[in-house]
Amino acid sequence: MELEFIGNVDKGKIVEMLLSAYADEWIAAYYYTLTAYTIKGPLSEEIGEHFLKEAEEELNKHARMIADRLQDLDVDPPRDIAKLWDISSCKYPPLPEDPYDVDAWLVAAVKAEECAISVYRKIFEYTHGKDPVTEELAEDILRDEVRHRTELKNLLSKAAKV
Ligand SMILES: [Fe+2]
Ligand SMILES: [Fe+2]
Repeated sequence: MELEFIGNVDKGKIVEMLLSAYADEWIAAYYYTLTAYTIKGPLSEEIGEHFLKEAEEELNKHARMIADRLQDLDVDPPRDIAKLWDISSCKYPPLPEDPYDVDAWLVAAVKAEECAISVYRKIFEYTHGKDPVTEELAEDILRDEVRHRTELKNLLSKAAKV
């Protein structure tokens, strides 16, 4: 038993959850970037900038934190980019057809954040009291994803408010 774990843990299950979350982060970063480059209309410039900022946090903060934790566990990220889609549990909600329907792009992103929130809540619950390092990672990222969801919801137009 490695020193960092408390009691019996299924390390394979933790690795599986982390790899899946790593894939979710790359996919969210890709779709947020795509959204920034696709949406059109009066507020698209400002909202696009927000999407780029969030994409950066998913990739350069969250995916990096997970990759670092996987390195602690002697696991490298998948070499085949197609594998990221396979192992992602969130993937991404269907994209709106209309680039001017910015609300619909925001709603897709809110759903993506809700999926991320449930993923990190599960990792937190699974590692709670057993793997404090991963538990803290899940708590940190969960806090960011909740903030992302709030920020995205606040960008919805009045008509689209849920
Ligand atoms: Fe994230
Ligand atoms: Fe996020």
